[in-house]
Amino acid sequence: MTTATDHTRQLPATFVFGAATAAYQIEGAASEDGRGESIWDRFCATPGKVRNGDDGSVACDFYHRYPSDVALMRELGLDAFRLSIAWPRILPEGRGRVNEAGLDFYDRLIDALLEGGITPFVTLYHWDLPQALEDRGGWPVRETAEAFVEYVDAVAKRLGDRVTRWITHNEPWVASWQGYGWGIHAPGRRSERDALATAHHLLLSHGWAVDVLRRESPGSHVGITLDLYHTHPISTSDADIGAARHWDGFRNRWFLDPLYRGEYPADLLERFEGKLPAVAAGDLAAISAPTDFLGVNYYSRSVVGAENGSRPITVRLADSTYTDAGWEVYPEGLCAMLVRVRDDYEPRRIYVTENGASYTDVRGHDGRVLDPERTAYIERHLDAIARAAAEGVPVEGYFVWSLLDNFEWAYGYQRRFGIVYVDYATLERIPKSSFYWYRDFIAAQRAPVGARAAAS
Ligand code: FCB
Repeated sequence: MTTATDHTRQLPATFVFGAATAAYQIEGAASEDGRGESIWDRFCATPGKVRNGDDGSVACDFYHRYPSDVALMRELGLDAFRLSIAWPRILPEGRGRVNEAGLDFYDRLIDALLEGGITPFVTLYHWDLPQALEDRGGWPVRETAEAFVEYVDAVAKRLGDRVTRWITHNEPWVASWQGYGWGIHAPGRRSERDALATAHHLLLSHGWAVDVLRRESPGSHVGITLDLYHTHPISTSDADIGAARHWDGFRNRWFLDPLYRGEYPADLLERFEGKLPAVAAGDLAAISAPTDFLGVNYYSRSVVGAENGSRPITVRLADSTYTDAGWEVYPEGLCAMLVRVRDDYEPRRIYVTENGASYTDVRGHDGRVLDPERTAYIERHLDAIARAAAEGVPVEGYFVWSLLDNFEWAYGYQRRFGIVYVDYATLERIPKSSFYWYRDFIAAQRAPVGARAAAS
């Protein structure tokens, strides 16, 4: 059995150990204290959209139980907690009236974290758009980017004196393509044109928000989180290599290039010709505003082949291992992706803002939840990060996804990603064995070097 002290690899002394969550996935309290409707409330209420008809109305009830969850974070020894703010709690109609009761909740939560010595990493948009804005066109219309800036302004005015780490958006690729392109996430629209316009407006609103945060939360660090997929061609044929390059452009470069180079990748522009949104003068300059860090969410890689000569398709390998979500376990891809991002884009610093695995956890007769596969997954990815750091990549933190089992979007409560098991019937929290492993790992990383050597 592997223990934390088997680790020879050392992460940098100032490395931040965290756990990540998102508002709609954990908070519940969907109609409390003046919260407005979000696109996820509407999507969940639409028959056939979410497995088992699940929704986030109760979720983990974090809204009420956060004090004991913060206590769990302290037991873990976390340096940081990544949370997101629910826009519909702050501006129930999307624009205009600010709901102070919504801000009060985050005010209390931020203070509880800070009192516990835990740095909040606050994501401003983790997919829960106010339904009122969707009714006016949603992300495909430019007005939504303007609305986002007003929302960020209201949040930063209230919390900007205490929050020092801001993430504007989470995974704009998912919000664009799964939400507006393919209809498998809220709001369930299916149009390539809408997906591309959404991506542009998410990026634009990010750039504008950077400005607001610099003004309202001076001295804080601001970044964006992308879900990056290390991409491998299935063979060395020209067709497969071309398809993999295309997939890399679609998943990764479409966001990295405008953010770090102020341009969309030419090969993809060609492919999407005729479907692209209007890009106004100054948009790309706004999008490429300098930031303080890049957030990288990494779960797996994409192995890609060409179908019908060129169309990229992702392929499952017979001899690899996959999590219960069907995602290949491939930690080497995280190291490779971090090195590549450093080489090609040179972000000032990088945080791995999500990484984790879903497995079918069960509570044993003794009440415990043993999840050795998840522990191994986390351990191997931390090891990949240590290798990237040893190669000089400025990777400064890691957030396990997730602290708690939670509402996993279209999969409802079926997929469990937590290092803490949630019994949804009683909302009881049961730390899994991966929780104790992570706690011991963090403690071992902090131990003085001599003590560490003696222990191993
Ligand atoms: C990411 C999301 C996060 C969670 C994990 C499993 O794409 O950002 O909310 O659903 O996947």
